[in-house]
Amino acid sequence: MKHQILLPDGSYMPKLGQGTWLMAEDDQKRPREIEGLRHGLELGIDMIDTAEMYADGKAELLAGHAMAGFDRSGVYLISKVYPKNANRSGIYSSLERSLRLLGTDYLDTYLLHWREDADLAEVAYCMEDLKEKGLIRRWGVSNFDVADMEDLWKVPDGNKCCVNQVLYNLGSRGIEFDLLQWQRERNIPFIAYGPVGQAGAMVTQDGVSKEQLMTDQNVREVARRKGISVVQLLLAFVLRLPDFAAIPKAVSFNHIEENLAAQSIVLTDEDLEQLSASFPAPERKILMEKY
Ligand SMILES: NC(=O)c1ccc[n+]([C@@H]2O[C@H](COP(=O)([O-])OP(=O)(O)OC[C@H]3O[C@@H](n4cnc5c(N)ncnc54)[C@H](OP(=O)(O)O)[C@@H]3O)[C@@H](O)[C@H]2O)c1
Repeated sequence: MKHQILLPDGSYMPKLGQGTWLMAEDDQKRPREIEGLRHGLELGIDMIDTAEMYADGKAELLAGHAMAGFDRSGVYLISKVYPKNANRSGIYSSLERSLRLLGTDYLDTYLLHWREDADLAEVAYCMEDLKEKGLIRRWGVSNFDVADMEDLWKVPDGNKCCVNQVLYNLGSRGIEFDLLQWQRERNIPFIAYGPVGQAGAMVTQDGVSKEQLMTDQNVREVARRKGISVVQLLLAFVLRLPDFAAIPKAVSFNHIEENLAAQSIVLTDEDLEQLSASFPAPERKILMEKY
């Protein structure tokens, strides 16, 4: 069964995709990274997330190579524009470069990578123009907290934003306090980045490290009870939410296959209570976590 999410424009987005951050940084690893993405596509993980920032365009080029030979219409392609380029003088050449590197003539979704000092009225204007020109199917934002979304909703066409990509995993639950509800009231789904909390030696602003997630007794016990790996449990925790897609980055075939299987894992109330005993939902506003 295909797991999908309904977007506000009436289209569907796959629930599971493949991230590309930190790919294409090392020429020796490139062939395996391409093979990893291709393996995922062959298995039906048919969404790829990239950005003009990643390896300065080389991740987009790598994703383009991985997609070669696959039916373009069967791959859901997301890329992101730097805030400094998200304006009339920068976005057209940014997108043209992304499309050239990716070897395609349109993106399924184009995201503003983060807000910084981007002029939101200009962003919405440009994104809608790119849509009209047929260069992108739809657009969204990334790393936007409630106040940013409220500002976006105030500008003309700001509410045509289809999705917000944010950091979310069991150790980074800050958005559950307010952003989740804000977006649900407006039917704007999420894409979770860092969904398995495994990127590098990262410690989120909440102070939860990869090691804490991996070694926690409750997490380990739930995974053992369900006969799944800890990382599968972490991914299932994100995918349990019907309006959340997740884009784990994985190169190892074994990881990719595990991630695919995680889509079918059902967490019970008992599982969730036990996970929350170690990593509770927030009871106060936490400044948006990002990395
Ligand atoms: N919008 C933004 O600001 C933003 C920020 C960060 C990331 N992102 C996007 O989100 C994607 C995912 O986030 P991320 O790469 O930071 O973190 P992540 O997906 O949580 O973690 C990636 C790490 O997890 C490992 N992994 C994946 N599946 C696994 C499994 N089943 N078992 C064990 N380990 C597994 C990978 O190993 P192997 O590679 O060795 O298989 C890799 O080292 C990025 O690639 C990028 O596309 C967006």
